[in-house]
Amino acid sequence: MPKYLEEFNPPIRLLLGPGPSNVNPRVLQAMSAPLLGHLDPDFLDIMDDVRDMLRIVFKTKNEITIPISGTGSAGMEAAIVNVIEPGDTMVVGINGYFGDRIAQIGERSGATVARVNAEWGLPLDPDKLNEELKKHKRVKAVAMVHAETSTGIRSPAKEITAIAHAHDALVIIDTVTSLGGIEVAMDDWDADVSYSGTQKCLGCPPGLSPVTFGPRAESVISNRKTPVQSWYLDTSLLKNYWSQNRAYHHTAPISMIYGLREGLRVVLEEGLDNRFSRHEYNAAALRKGIEAMGMEMFAQEDSRLPTLNTIRIPEGIDDAKVRRSLLTEHNIEIGGGLGPVAGKIWRIGLMGENSNKEAVVSVLSALEVVLNEQGAEMTPGTGASAAEAFYAS
Ligand SMILES: Cc1ncc(COP(=O)(O)O)c(C=O)c1O
Repeated sequence: MPKYLEEFNPPIRLLLGPGPSNVNPRVLQAMSAPLLGHLDPDFLDIMDDVRDMLRIVFKTKNEITIPISGTGSAGMEAAIVNVIEPGDTMVVGINGYFGDRIAQIGERSGATVARVNAEWGLPLDPDKLNEELKKHKRVKAVAMVHAETSTGIRSPAKEITAIAHAHDALVIIDTVTSLGGIEVAMDDWDADVSYSGTQKCLGCPPGLSPVTFGPRAESVISNRKTPVQSWYLDTSLLKNYWSQNRAYHHTAPISMIYGLREGLRVVLEEGLDNRFSRHEYNAAALRKGIEAMGMEMFAQEDSRLPTLNTIRIPEGIDDAKVRRSLLTEHNIEIGGGLGPVAGKIWRIGLMGENSNKEAVVSVLSALEVVLNEQGAEMTPGTGASAAEAFYAS
């Protein structure tokens, strides 16, 4: 029998990389519910629930708050192509891999992009963004990554929003690694556009990208001179399906929407504040363990994310070998570095379901075993005991 006719039973892994993360069983169960048509009144009710819950999670009243069919990059693209027209100027804060992706999409959308770089491992500098904005007569949008997954850094979204508005520019905020894990407060920040992903702190599989567009962004979109270059991601068409018009646009990914509804229910049953505290608490335990093992965190201390933790790889340790052993011997996935920090850092995600004591203790114990196999000479149990002591205190 050819291999492709054999049943596929994926191994059960602890997914502590930069996402996807493990999913609550309730979400998987919801995804296996019988299909409904995308215009079935019962499905339309589910869509309304998803919109209502996304508004709570984004902390917004924005009318256009919907899941885009596609991963976080589709949301990124939707945010940019709806707002930007060829010839516009965009200022992008870049302190990691995903800021650069925003700039690339901006350029592909016909914008002149001014990149304001910060060192990887540091937050964006609002003053530098302000200086850049002063150099241009008219900037359409400032874009930034709230939680940079490539470095484990949080940047000041509210401050940067105020700077963008002082220059009459919209702000676009990537909340892929923050939504549901640390506070995102669209209306309090007065932010205009944001997009996220389902596979990180929302505890769902990859495949949908929640987005939200505020009134200023809506007004910019309705005053466009050119049609949005992407038909699929055009919010003025999408909102006809997601609003009471219920006009067919594309066939909604029904099972994914079921999953997101359940994932959001899980988030709101826990409560956003409890969820944020849980993420902070478990990341603090992980850091205790890492430091007890003699290793250092990479991201600047006052801006570290609890959702994505970056660790400097000790001298003489083979990055790829460590990650391979963790995966194949211990069934634990962690991430490596990207771009300039490839081979220099590890990325441990503690997101959504995976922000828990068992995950923290398991990854510390396994990491210690694997590092000792490479001659690191750590006293077995040091990291896990430090984390346990933190939990017991
Ligand atoms: C901050 C950030 N933005 C955007 C993306 C792109 O999301 P996706 O890989 O789901 O397309 C990611 C993915 O990890 C991310 O971490």
